[in-house]
Amino acid sequence: MKVSIIGAGSVGASCAEYIAIKSIASHVVLLDIKEGLAEGKTLDIYQSATLLSYNTKVVGVTNDYQATECSDVVVITSGIPRKPGMSREELIGINAGIVDSVAQNILKYSPDTIFIVVSNPMDTMTYLALKKTGLPKNRVIGMGGILDSARFKTYLSLALEVPSGEIQGMVIGGHGDTTMIPLARLSTYHGIPISTLLSPQKLDQVVADTMVGGATLTALLGTSAWYAPGASAAYLVDSILGDFRRLLPCSVLLEGEYGLDDLCIGVPCIIGANGLESIVEIALDASEQEKLNQSAQKIQQMNQSLDSIL
Ligand code: NAI
Ligand code: 2OP
Repeated sequence: MKVSIIGAGSVGASCAEYIAIKSIASHVVLLDIKEGLAEGKTLDIYQSATLLSYNTKVVGVTNDYQATECSDVVVITSGIPRKPGMSREELIGINAGIVDSVAQNILKYSPDTIFIVVSNPMDTMTYLALKKTGLPKNRVIGMGGILDSARFKTYLSLALEVPSGEIQGMVIGGHGDTTMIPLARLSTYHGIPISTLLSPQKLDQVVADTMVGGATLTALLGTSAWYAPGASAAYLVDSILGDFRRLLPCSVLLEGEYGLDDLCIGVPCIIGANGLESIVEIALDASEQEKLNQSAQKIQQMNQSLDSIL
């Protein structure tokens, strides 16, 4: 199994490292436009193989798409990240051109691959990749909800003082500070509704912290986060390559599901060997559906700025 990761920056390199350490694929290719960056990071990662006991071959290249030939999955992280005070949406102009050209180059050598889009604004970049490549919707998947859900579960675990792995919870909607929807009503601790364990004030605080989870890190780090984003993308790759059929919130094309059409937005998906295997339509209450509608409206407004490219 071969995975190529485009963009050897913070998220791309972190994703490559997790895939290697967890032996998710046999081959990882990291590609960047910056001379030597991917080569250097992969050599560094690969030198940990004997210490961490993995056999995944990790290779870095500069702009050499031939090296990505026959990739089963391609993760697109190339582009610019947020700086403090910037929204994900402000990245659209530069990142759209990058995501478009990367997708075309990849398809020359891996026509059957499955794309995972990470570059921001992720829902719009996923829609762009889908439209520009003309691929079926199962093969273009945006990663954002997995990360937002991981942050949600982390904040819930801190509030409850229990291990995060014992919490179930999901964030749907757009991958944006004002567009994501942490589904507090459906979150549980061993099947016990979280709403019976935390006060409404505490639960509201968890939801608020989750929604600005990325911005909080950007303010602390001076750029956006990479450990949890890299792990989230690797987890998605794992679900595809292992055909695990995990239920994961991913940004995929909606065609009537949830009453929405012609946009990519985060919804619960079954992810397996074919990429998106199916979209799961859970029964949202009126307030959750209204938030999803508003989130969709904001994403569709942003998608309009792609009109000149599509
Ligand atoms: P970074 O700046 O560390 O890395 C980006 C890399 O892309 C750079 O090394 C750059 O040289 C490379 N690049 C630029 N144009 C390229 C091209 N045409 N071909 C190949 N490589 C190219 O940024 P970082 O922190 O890794 O973030 C990457 C993207 O992921 C950003 O857009 C960021 O906003 C997004 N992101 C998305 C998340 C999500 O959950 N969807 C989470 C975290 C970041
Ligand atoms: C994050 O959520 C900025 O999308 C990036 O950390």
